[in-house]
Amino acid sequence: MGSIDADQQPTGNLCAVVTGANKGIGLAVVRQLAELGVHVVLTSRDVARGTAAVRSLHSAGLSNILFYQLDVSDPLSAASLAGFVSDRFGKLDILVNNAAASGVVVDVEGLVALNIDPDHWLSGKATNLVKEVIEHTHESAVACIEINYFGCKRVTESLLPLLRLSPSGARIVNVSSLRSELKRIPNEGIRGELADVEKLDEERIENILGRFLEDSKEGKLEAGGWPMMLPAYSISKVAVNAYTRVIARRWPEMCINCVHPGFVKTDLNWNTGVETTDEGARGPVMLALLPAGGPSGRYFHKTAAMADF
Ligand SMILES: NC(=O)c1ccc[n+]([C@@H]2O[C@H](COP(=O)([O-])OP(=O)(O)OC[C@H]3O[C@@H](n4cnc5c(N)ncnc54)[C@H](OP(=O)(O)O)[C@@H]3O)[C@@H](O)[C@H]2O)c1
Repeated sequence: MGSIDADQQPTGNLCAVVTGANKGIGLAVVRQLAELGVHVVLTSRDVARGTAAVRSLHSAGLSNILFYQLDVSDPLSAASLAGFVSDRFGKLDILVNNAAASGVVVDVEGLVALNIDPDHWLSGKATNLVKEVIEHTHESAVACIEINYFGCKRVTESLLPLLRLSPSGARIVNVSSLRSELKRIPNEGIRGELADVEKLDEERIENILGRFLEDSKEGKLEAGGWPMMLPAYSISKVAVNAYTRVIARRWPEMCINCVHPGFVKTDLNWNTGVETTDEGARGPVMLALLPAGGPSGRYFHKTAAMADF
């Protein structure tokens, strides 16, 4: 594990897009970037939630934030955002793909009552404990993969022509998760396919997702050797990491990385996390502002680059 000391030199010339930014870590990323002088487009799928978030930042004195409605699961919405950014800025320097869904249906009261030790969440020891209160449904799995992986890919592809115009070499930050680590996948064959980095491309990644969804539909996830703690979420983030490697190789002039933000208290984990959203934003913000020649195609645990993923 190595640490990157980012020599952060943001200027008023940089512009950024953050997805799923009406709350949680995304909102904190927007605030931290804006405080450093970056012009930020705060996006949210819900207009009322997004404009309320922007208003709260404006009233805190941050005028360099714009709102744009973006549902990452809607191709037209992503294309429309690209048109807006093009008109306003003529280029894009930073994209933070942050929007995500958990892919499960939860009895929140029951979960809170279990009072699970945060270390048990992180180590995966909680898998059996939460079986009664966290339900994997095929419908939520499909939506989760659509948002977490295809949403990230869709928004990236829509904004790529603008990212390629960034004079400083764009930065793409894909917010991932500890759940993405390959060691958490019991099936050795799937682990092997994902670890064969040279052969990875979108087709291979999506083939794995397709097989996951087949097994999900047939109730065969455990037999198929898929991770059983938040299965769809975990596999969607595995796919996000693999996609990060693929596009980092394709666009060497950019710094494209993925990051586990920490175990942060947000709605996504039913507020079981232990870190603040400001702490969770530190890794994504550091990667958004990497100096020229910084790392690319890497996975970070908060602000530390991991040797393996
Ligand atoms: N919290 C943690 O401990 C933790 C750990 C590891 C990784 N992460 C990652 O951190 C990122 C931020 O999560 P968070 O913890 O801050 O959770 P959060 O507070 O629940 O925020 C998730 C955001 O994603 C948005 N979103 C969901 N579906 C969307 C869609 N189709 N289009 C656009 N936006 C959509 C949500 O919008 P709505 O308000 O409209 O639902 C919300 O703004 C995620 O990528 C997550 O996987 C979090």
